[in-house]
Amino acid sequence: MNADALILAADSALRTLLAEPRASRPTPSPAIHGTPLGDADRREAAALMRVNHVGEVCAQALYTGQMLASRDPALQSKLAEASREETDHLAWTLQRLRELDDRPSLLNPLWYAGAFAIGYAAGKLGGDRLSLGFVVETENQVEAHLNSHMSRLPADDTASRAIVAQMMADEVAHARMAERAGAVTLPAPVKGLMKMAAKVMTTVAHRV
Ligand SMILES: [Fe+2]
Ligand SMILES: [Fe+2]
Repeated sequence: MNADALILAADSALRTLLAEPRASRPTPSPAIHGTPLGDADRREAAALMRVNHVGEVCAQALYTGQMLASRDPALQSKLAEASREETDHLAWTLQRLRELDDRPSLLNPLWYAGAFAIGYAAGKLGGDRLSLGFVVETENQVEAHLNSHMSRLPADDTASRAIVAQMMADEVAHARMAERAGAVTLPAPVKGLMKMAAKVMTTVAHRV
């Protein structure tokens, strides 16, 4: 990695972890939130939204790593476009976590570093088409995971549900973008490893 790339990587990490993310679209969550949540529901909703916020921290890291690993300006701009939508997700999930009176994962710097390393390695070692394959598989897994939250989030939590629904639609679009850009299908063992890593992350982030 050259000096410019290092500066970009550090800038992205600091912005994701320390700055207030700025969404380019308004939050999908309705202005009036309906029935207030009981304490147990509020805590469970917050734990799920913390997991989703960690996922979005990882999305920032993955896309930044992949952008820096690619030398193709057309691909870089597609990744940048998807990554702007991920910034919306980051802002929306953080805002919802605060409304639920909870905090982001304390391990976010660790999640960011791990995801950045994976994104960069996928692009550098595997090349652009494998890196795109990685986007497809990641976004597919995220979509399935968000879908599972639709049955786990409290029924009354319309605000979190609206955010998760819009995120799902965006993640599907990111996967389709990567397919159109020439993604290769990842080998099954790699998909399995990614699922295992995601399982560790979601289990830990539910609590910490
Ligand atoms: Fe996202
Ligand atoms: Fe995405």
